Amino acid sequence: MTTDSPAGPSSRALIWDGAIRLFHWSSVALVALAWWSAENGHMDWHRRFGLTMLGLVVFRLYWGFAGTQPARFAQFVKGPGAIAAYIRKMKRPYNPAPGHNPLGALSVLALIAALVLQVSAGLFAVDVDGLESGPLSHLVSFDQGRAAAEFHETIFNILIALIVLHVAALVFYRVRLNTNLVSAMITGRRANSEPGHVGPFPLVRFAIGIVLAGAVVTLVLQI
Ligand code: HEM
Ligand code: HEM
Repeated sequence: MTTDSPAGPSSRALIWDGAIRLFHWSSVALVALAWWSAENGHMDWHRRFGLTMLGLVVFRLYWGFAGTQPARFAQFVKGPGAIAAYIRKMKRPYNPAPGHNPLGALSVLALIAALVLQVSAGLFAVDVDGLESGPLSHLVSFDQGRAAAEFHETIFNILIALIVLHVAALVFYRVRLNTNLVSAMITGRRANSEPGHVGPFPLVRFAIGIVLAGAVVTLVLQI
């Protein structure tokens, strides 16, 4: 994977590393597949997609501390003052700094939290006849498993609302601020931007993250 250019605006500066982009588009596919498989009663597939999503969220949480600068929570989680200052600057001509902006960071955190809750509840969920259950449902009573299933359904509705808001925000940036955020999440690069301080891709830390994610999924299946 590529490195960014030296400091200063560059015609195609790298602002997102490959791991974030892979996490993002895999999450989009897996949420859709998990919904489709649950709606159509393919629960074996639902658990497979859900467990893959579990691995992804474990990886993303780890990458928020060990990943490249734009991926780190400490880099983009800001207080109310920074958020208010950012909102005052949201007008044309808009030239965003690389990375999540202080307002968008709230949506990023909410989406990641919703994904964490979604997969966690799924692990303990029990369906009405007790036949189709998550891999950790044997650790809880039937009633607790049913409560987890109901929470799983509620959080799914919240997740959908957050996704609608997320996509609406992207449309707002495109239409009102003339800024296409989506192409950068695909290619990792943005035209005429400051570099995102992505640096050389940390392959060893990436490998550790993959092993960690795999280990958590394996552990869940072994318990
Ligand atoms: C991307 C993550 C996930 C999404 C979007 C998702 C979504 C859903 C949806 C929409 C339903 C149907 C809810 C209903 O109308 O009753 C469902 C049911 C269920 N899911 Fe997930 N799920 C995810 C992850 C998981 C995981 C990780 C597991 C466990 C390995 C799991 C286990 C279950 C079970 C057992 C049910 C049946 C519950 C019932 O019948 O009441 N899900 N899920
Ligand atoms: C299941 C649906 C979706 C989920 C769960 C989701 C989740 C997320 C998350 C967690 C992030 C933060 C990325 C990170 O730091 O790891 C993010 C950012 C982003 N997403 Fe999505 N997303 C979804 C759908 C979409 C769609 C459909 C698009 C494009 C049409 C999109 C475009 C983007 C872009 C451009 C960013 C970066 C925003 C920025 O520049 O700060 N997402 N999304």
